Amino acid sequence: MTLRAPVRRYSDAFLAFALGVEVVCAALGGRRWYRARHLAPARLALRRERVVVPDLPDGLAGLRLAQLSDLHAGRYLGRGDLRAAVDAVNAFEPDVVALTGDFVSHHWSDALALVDDLARLAPRRACVAVFGNHDYRDRAEGRIAEAFAAAGVRVLRDECLRVDTGAGVLALVGLEDLEEAKRVDLDAARADVQPGDVEVVLCHHPAGGPRLARPGCALVLSGHTHGVQVDLPFLRRFGPAHPGLRLTHGATTQLVSRGVGVVGLPLRVGAPAEVVLVELAREGAA
Ligand SMILES: [Fe+2]
Ligand SMILES: [Fe+2]
Repeated sequence: MTLRAPVRRYSDAFLAFALGVEVVCAALGGRRWYRARHLAPARLALRRERVVVPDLPDGLAGLRLAQLSDLHAGRYLGRGDLRAAVDAVNAFEPDVVALTGDFVSHHWSDALALVDDLARLAPRRACVAVFGNHDYRDRAEGRIAEAFAAAGVRVLRDECLRVDTGAGVLALVGLEDLEEAKRVDLDAARADVQPGDVEVVLCHHPAGGPRLARPGCALVLSGHTHGVQVDLPFLRRFGPAHPGLRLTHGATTQLVSRGVGVVGLPLRVGAPAEVVLVELAREGAA
């Protein structure tokens, strides 16, 4: 089964205007401003989510996943700017770190500035990632995957990584982006998921959530919307539709991260940069 989301296209004039805004804001110190205002330890939001999973094996109760999304390396975020986010993730002592795409804003090579920070992530079991729509801009996303692999981050491209804890198996399924990938093959991505696995899907675009839900799929982790980023009435229509931070599709929970980085303006209003810290719980547990 293929999975797509409608592609949003902006006019050339709008894109040129947005790029001009970025260039000017960056020249005025936008990156330094954004780091101090939104990425400093006291500013970064730590969003804690408890997800109840039907029939969760005893051994997976309390399992921890940390999510970082929408880093958007480029004019507003670069080398060293993820220090507080990485420290927060490591302090949570996660079993799994999930990176849900949009590593860059414009050019694949900007992702190289993230490698040192990402290499400091220290999950107990696995660090996995998927691409977001921005990561396909140069059609060189494979080079991002190579650089991340050297930092211990595995990019899942319509594939599954099964993590056997000895007391249960977590099936981490990663999808290509629903807007910009040439192909999204959900069947291939799920081919290695076994009955009894606890499935967690990484899908950058939140529109995939309802179609990914199924028994055994505990969680879908998404990003893309930046939680609206600048949540003011006259600016809302410029960004992607934001369905909410936490959605339920039958037995499947979907978490939509507000992300860490920004596009357009080095500013967030009503949508703090965040690290999402998830704990799995058994049904009926206190
Ligand atoms: Fe994004
Ligand atoms: Fe995106």
